[in-house]
Amino acid sequence: MRAIAYSEFGGPEVLQVVEVPVPEPAGDEVRVAIRAAGVNPADWKMRSGALVFGEPRFPQFPGGEIAGFVDALGPDAHGHAIGDQVFGWARSGGYAEYALSSTLARKPAGLDWPDAVALPVAVSTAARVLALLHLRAGETLLVNGASGAVGSMAVQLALAEGVTVIGTASARNQDLVRELGAIPTTYGDGLADRVRALAPGGVDAVFDAAGQGGLPAAIDLRGGTDRIVTIADPAAEQLGVTFASGPPGPRPVELIEQVAERVVTGEFRLPAPARTFTLDEAAQAQQELERGHGSGKVVLLVN
Ligand SMILES: NC(=O)c1ccc[n+]([C@@H]2O[C@H](COP(=O)([O-])OP(=O)(O)OC[C@H]3O[C@@H](n4cnc5c(N)ncnc54)[C@H](OP(=O)(O)O)[C@@H]3O)[C@@H](O)[C@H]2O)c1
Repeated sequence: MRAIAYSEFGGPEVLQVVEVPVPEPAGDEVRVAIRAAGVNPADWKMRSGALVFGEPRFPQFPGGEIAGFVDALGPDAHGHAIGDQVFGWARSGGYAEYALSSTLARKPAGLDWPDAVALPVAVSTAARVLALLHLRAGETLLVNGASGAVGSMAVQLALAEGVTVIGTASARNQDLVRELGAIPTTYGDGLADRVRALAPGGVDAVFDAAGQGGLPAAIDLRGGTDRIVTIADPAAEQLGVTFASGPPGPRPVELIEQVAERVVTGEFRLPAPARTFTLDEAAQAQQELERGHGSGKVVLLVN
């Protein structure tokens, strides 16, 4: 089968199309014939060597988010049948024609492949951070990067719990943030003053889903580091802010299924249509994402 691999850290040019054997599922694993693979910021950070887990081994096969058809079942795999349409997390190597997974949700028939593959990482990250912030109905949350993949899900999950949300985005995405149900404002200089004007009673918590230097304004608004969580700002440790890194626990398969249903009914929305690429265009896809602006999920369409 065709897959994307790299054998050294570097720019997008290190990504190569390679031929490898189709993987065989063992234990509770399911083999997925991939139709869409999600491209996430972590993928290019790992490819560049900026994000390293343990001793690096090459070749590496990028991609942790997939949607497609169940193609083969390991001996202990339950809950799925050959031909089911599924989406979820790949063990590794999601930029490929086939990958193995043991954390898959059922894809609603009314959801297309690029929209399905936009959900696992964004929804699970948003939910994980909201749980850390212990929000209650009636409180006010600031989401920095509310137009992005994670931020837009955080906005909608918080609103569903009765939380008022102020969301930052670039000038061009102010309407999008408003349509998601949040009170929009722009990020950058003067953020704390703009938020104070919108929330004279203050904000109860801050979710930094951008990691672009918004933490000092968050600390100013909160009068300290309590109930501020970032998923991306490397200054967190120095500033004493909680950094929520990758998920240590089980993947929230049921939650992504529920959100998928709500996208179909229109109760939830994705920030913008996906930006799609072919498998051969994986390097361009990662380059597009490295620009750091949320304008729809970057997706590789496979087959
Ligand atoms: N720790 C974890 O578990 C975890 C999990 C998932 C993602 N992440 C990280 O979280 C970050 C966001 O991921 P994503 O997939 O949501 O990315 P994304 O879809 O590209 O969204 C990026 C967001 O950042 C905003 N932004 C861009 N420049 C900004 C600035 N200078 N100040 C404030 N906001 C700015 C964008 O707004 P505009 O588009 O309107 O400019 C957009 O809302 C990435 O760094 C990613 O690596 C971490």
